[in-house]
Amino acid sequence: MRRNDFGENFIWGIACSAYQIEGAHNIDGKGISIWDVFSEKRNKIANREDGKTACDFYHRYPEDLANIKSLNIPNFRFSIAWTRLIPEGTGKINYKGIDFYNKIIDGCIELGITPWITLYHWDLPYYLELKGGWTNRSIIQWFENYVELCVQQFGDRVKHWMVLNEPVAFTGAGYFLGIHAPGKRGVENYLSSVHHAALCQAEGARIIKGYYPNSQVGSTFSYSHVDAHTETKKDYLAVEKIDALLNRLFIEPSLGMGYPTEKLPFLNKIETFIKPGDYKRLQYNFDFIGLQTYTREVVKHSFFTPVINAVPVNAKERNVSRTLMNWEIHPPSIYQAIKRMDSYSGVKKIYITENGAAFNDIIIDNSIQDQQRIKYLDTHLQEVLRAKEENMKVEGYFVWSLTDNFEWAEGYHPRFGLIYVDFKTQKRIIKQSGYWYKKFLENRN
Ligand code: GAL
Repeated sequence: MRRNDFGENFIWGIACSAYQIEGAHNIDGKGISIWDVFSEKRNKIANREDGKTACDFYHRYPEDLANIKSLNIPNFRFSIAWTRLIPEGTGKINYKGIDFYNKIIDGCIELGITPWITLYHWDLPYYLELKGGWTNRSIIQWFENYVELCVQQFGDRVKHWMVLNEPVAFTGAGYFLGIHAPGKRGVENYLSSVHHAALCQAEGARIIKGYYPNSQVGSTFSYSHVDAHTETKKDYLAVEKIDALLNRLFIEPSLGMGYPTEKLPFLNKIETFIKPGDYKRLQYNFDFIGLQTYTREVVKHSFFTPVINAVPVNAKERNVSRTLMNWEIHPPSIYQAIKRMDSYSGVKKIYITENGAAFNDIIIDNSIQDQQRIKYLDTHLQEVLRAKEENMKVEGYFVWSLTDNFEWAEGYHPRFGLIYVDFKTQKRIIKQSGYWYKKFLENRN
């Protein structure tokens, strides 16, 4: 398999997000985000770590951009921290924050790297959370103002936008399970935040297109192919439920199909939050879908699990090969994910905007021979190629991630980078997988 096999126009890139890399949490007028606050709570983040310093990308971006260039990676996906631009989420603008992203964007362009911006990668301004955050319908207005500012400031140079990063994850983990910021729980918090996020996903896109009709606008969706634990009717029903919850919840309303209530009756309660005209507003014909996939889920019926009666059987229990996140390594699932997205006639184009793996990286003689990561990327890419050769509309692939970084509730332990970061000294070491990607991009392996 070679880069050339994917065709000349296939997009190749690398991805990261603001809170996971920037650090500088209180520098140059930045406001507080929900992750700053959440990480101060007890027992929320492994080893009580936080993103206050992270990879110090805020100060070290010239080195990181130079590394992207040296690895020959043509596209860089990063996110904007809302709190740097509008510290309290709404109202006063912080021009130092705008300067920072101008430097990143201009820095990319000077090096011949195309910037791809995610507008929201989970770091909501804390002042908005005090007003209910995603559960408050006013988020639509707050978000629209923020998007408008971004597009006014950066839209002259940035042509590729993603509105939200994985709304399934930030609503589910943040507003239902309470394991991510802001740590809320319960069905009401969950359903209101789902509906408001789904509206923002479409409204944000409309704003960008309104300013720049020729820009490429998408949003990103997490996807895990779901299989049944046993070949029984009960487990197949469990598959349908988990699949609706993980994979259909946000894409289908944007395609005009509504929420997948037929498989998840509890979702009917979302009606409480729906206002006249909302079904129309939920729809948006994205230029592309950002598909983010790492693993698959195997699920079974569970009488004791309220609401959905289905639970995953984790990879450890199944004793299958897995990454440091305890996620099963299952390359065909990326093919399945593409196939499923491709089957929606409303989906125009698919980019894999995240795929990658955390392993236990060991430094020997200043080098990291991360063969497992290379194998993971290689086998997943082969499955992407299979989809492409079957004429599915997949047209790009971004590795997660550039550098090791703050992996949310897991802290710094799981390392996803193609570049190793020593978090004590901030020294970067390009891993063997980084050199492997470089060679691949140069069409040499
Ligand atoms: C995604 C998320 C990223 C990153 C990755 C690896 O869900 O968008 O921020 O953490 O997973 O877990």
